[in-house]
Parts: sequence; C-alpha cells; structure tokens
Amino acid sequence: DKPKRRPAMKSAFVVVANRLPVDQTTDPDGTVRWRRSPGGLVTALEPVMRANKGAWIGWSGSSDDGDERQEPFDEAGMHLIPMQLTSDDVEEYYEGFSNGTLWPLYHDVIAQPVFHREWWDAYTKVNERFARAAAEVADEGAVVWVHDYQLQLVPEMLRALRPDLRIGFFLHIPFPPNELFARLPWRRQILRGLLGADLVGFQRPGAAANFLRLTRRMLGHQTQADRAILADGRIVRAGAFPISIDMAELEEIARRPETEARAQEIRDEIGNPDKVFLGIDRLDYTKGIGERIKAFFELLNEGELSPEEATFLQVATPSRERVEEYKALRNDVELLVGRVNGAHGRIGRPAMTYLHNSFVRTELAALYRAADVMVVTPLRDGMNLVAKEFIACRYDNTGTLILSEFAGAADELRQALLVNPYDVDGLKQALLQAVRVEPREASRKMRAMRRYLAEHDVDRWANTFLEKLAGRPEL
Ligand code: ADP
Ligand code: F6P
Repeated sequence: DKPKRRPAMKSAFVVVANRLPVDQTTDPDGTVRWRRSPGGLVTALEPVMRANKGAWIGWSGSSDDGDERQEPFDEAGMHLIPMQLTSDDVEEYYEGFSNGTLWPLYHDVIAQPVFHREWWDAYTKVNERFARAAAEVADEGAVVWVHDYQLQLVPEMLRALRPDLRIGFFLHIPFPPNELFARLPWRRQILRGLLGADLVGFQRPGAAANFLRLTRRMLGHQTQADRAILADGRIVRAGAFPISIDMAELEEIARRPETEARAQEIRDEIGNPDKVFLGIDRLDYTKGIGERIKAFFELLNEGELSPEEATFLQVATPSRERVEEYKALRNDVELLVGRVNGAHGRIGRPAMTYLHNSFVRTELAALYRAADVMVVTPLRDGMNLVAKEFIACRYDNTGTLILSEFAGAADELRQALLVNPYDVDGLKQALLQAVRVEPREASRKMRAMRRYLAEHDVDRWANTFLEKLAGRPEL
C-alpha cells in the first residue's frame, strides 16, 4: 500500500511556485540531500516567506514515476509542501512547455520557441495539480500568491475550486508584446488563466501595459486608466512591482572579516590583476555571457587591455541542462573561454577564470567583494538580481556596475554604465570606461544606487504587492 499523506496544515498565506527554495538531489549511494534551488525567484521569496508565516508549495526538483507524494516539512523557518513531478512531467511541462516554449517566447525569441500540443497538455495537467494542492492547503479566505510563467493557469483553476480565496500572481520574467505573444496557440487560455487572479504583477510597467492590451484585443475586455480589467463581472488589477533583494542580510555577510579575507584570497589566486571583471549568472542564453566574453577577448587581442591589467571571472550556475539550447550554449561559452585562455593565458595565469558551479551565499558575497567591475549584460531579463546583489555588497561605495538596458534593473539603477549588449563596440567601450573610471565618480554613482536599493528592498516589494492585493476593489 502507498503511504497515506497526512492532511496538510491549513495556512492563511500560501505561496505557489514551480520550485521550492531547496532542491532534492540523490547521491550515487542513494543519500538524499537538499540544497538551495537556483534562480532569482528563490532569492527574493525566501526572506519574504521567513517573515510571513505561511506555506510554500513547489516542486522538490526530483522526479518520481511512482507518484509517491512527499511529506510536508519545515526548513529554515518555512513550511514547505513538496510536489512531485514524474519524468514525463519534467520533460514535457518543465523542460518542454515552460523552458522550450514560454521562456524563449517571453524573452524576445532570442531562441526559437517550440510549440508541441503534448507539452501544452502536460502544462495544463501539472498546473491543475498545483491548483488542487493550493486549494487543499489554503485556509478559508486565505491569501494565495502564485508565481511565474510555469504556473499561469493556476489562478483560474484555483478560483474555480476556491472562490473564497484572495489570489495574486507575479510574473518574474518579461511579458511580451502582442507581436510575440500572439504566436502562442494557447494565448487565450493563458490570459484567462492569469485573469483568475485578483492582482497580476509584472516587473516593469511596459509588461503590465502589454497584458492590458492583450486582454482587450484577444478577450474583448474593457480596461481602465488605473490598470483595472473588467473580466466577466470581476475586477482584476494589473501593475508593475519591481522585485528586489534582502540588502541588509547580504551586506551583513559582505562586511564580515572572513568574507573580506576570502575576497582577498580570490584576488591573490587569480594573480592579483589591477582590475577584476565579474560575471555571475545561471548558464542561460538570455544572459549575454558570450557577448561580454567576446568584447573582453577583442580588447585583449587589440592590446587595449592586458591580463595583468584586467582578468575576467565568470561564474555560471548549471541550469536546465537537458534542454538543447542550454547544451549548445554551454559548448559555445566553454569554447570561447578556451580561446581566450589559449591566446592570452600563461602557465598558472589564465586570462579568464570560468567556474561552472553553484556557490553558497558567503562565497558569492566574497566574489562580489573581490570584483572591481560587475558585468551584467543580458539580452533580455525580467529584473536581474545579481546587479542588485553586487550593489548590496559594495558598502564602501567602490566598484562599477555595467548593466544591460534590457534588464528590468536598468529602470531603477540609472547610475550604472548602461549598455546595449548587441553592440560589441559599445560593450568594449564600457569595459574600458569601467577600468579607467575616476574613483570619486564611481563612488558617487555607487552611493546613489545603494541609497535607492536600501529604500527599495524585497520587503517593500512584497508589502506593496500584498497590500494592493488585500484592498478589495469595488465594481
Ligand atoms: P535568474 O532568476 O534568471 O536566475 P537573477 O539574476 O534574478 O536571474 O537571480 C539569480 C540568483 O541566483 C541570484 O540570487 C544569484 O546570486 C544566484 N546565483 C547565480 N549564480 C549563482 C551561483 N553560481 N551559485 C549560487 N547562486 C547563484
Ligand atoms: O524567474 C526566474 C526563474 O525562471 C524562476 O522561475 C526559476 O525558479 C529560476 O529562474 C531558475 O530556473 P529553474 O527553476 O528552471 O532552474
């Protein structure tokens, strides 16, 4: 007999996301381990969940064809309810529809989205499962906050099961304009799915405007100047809520003497160049990793920079490794790094250090402290929390941030060196400008960005969203 799941504790606040903040992995000897899940969603939601007692429903990262459900458990002050996916679900719902269809479509079709009806069926089925789990866990009149592109059908499904709930939805990635969204064979279903929420949040005002326009155009709904949508007798609100980080927590880690010591050690280990460029990303084709390496490579080739003057440290977390585009990206990046080092490295002194690995927060803080120039060049990004993390760690107002205009963070971090990552010459100029900047000029800019971030941290993001969600709109 399958073990019976004990009834989950009812919660007044429930977060539903594709992933839990911890990821289950099994060693070859069968030992089960939990480690922090990758990505910005987890970075942002973790402190919010610790502050608001609630339940977090999400995938545990493992697949189990036996469909045996895992027990809820508590971890670091959070109540976690694991959802299991079968290996077919992982292939069709997660790698397929979420990351082979929606991810490229919503990121400016940097890669070609693939449309498969079986993937859509799996997406619908898994969304239904998440909606049922949320309906089971939510207390009478609870607030349920659904997150990201993997679960866009959940708001409508959950409302049908539990009309008493207050439902919010937040999209962490960009939301495309009609010209791209209209390609999706299931475009109306997705819009109706989102409209099951009372409040639909986006990173940028332009994304909210795209959503409003699409509901008018594709579903014939009326919208108002205050971004309210009249959807079948209900009012649904849409708006921009730029996400952020727990600045105080990261700054505290950065200020520790052991972090500073580790930062110095990192600089020593890479040969103590005058300047260190740093990139930290999930290994994703949206992040513009190749573009920034190419710009650095050309500067070395042209003699504008030498490896003694500046080296590049690129950290890339493994991500979605079974998806074709990600395999190709890894090959391209690793080939390029090899070329840079082949041409400009010396024995024991590479011109570039590349680490394909995931690191704990203390090590990340040391990396942010070890750098002089943070290079954030996505071709498209919902927000980009790495840019904000770098600023949080620069408590002495040193360091320069190079930031793509196509990251949501560019709306807020106006004192960054803003670049168009498609423009290799522009990128090269920015790299040179960053290594030659006057310290006083850099310090003025960093101070301004730090002031902004201190006032706009992740608590403010969550509170603004949740307060707006709590205010019951009148018809
Ligand atoms: P995305 O959500 O697309 O991955 P973000 O920049 O918004 O992009 O968030 C990435 C998050 O993942 C950040 O909190 C960053 O610190 C973390 N991260 C990135 N690379 C690594 C790594 N190699 N090891 C550990 N955490 C990482
Ligand atoms: O919003 C960014 C995001 O796509 C999250 O939804 C996701 O959890 C994270 O990046 C990491 O990606 P994945 O969960 O596919 O490893």
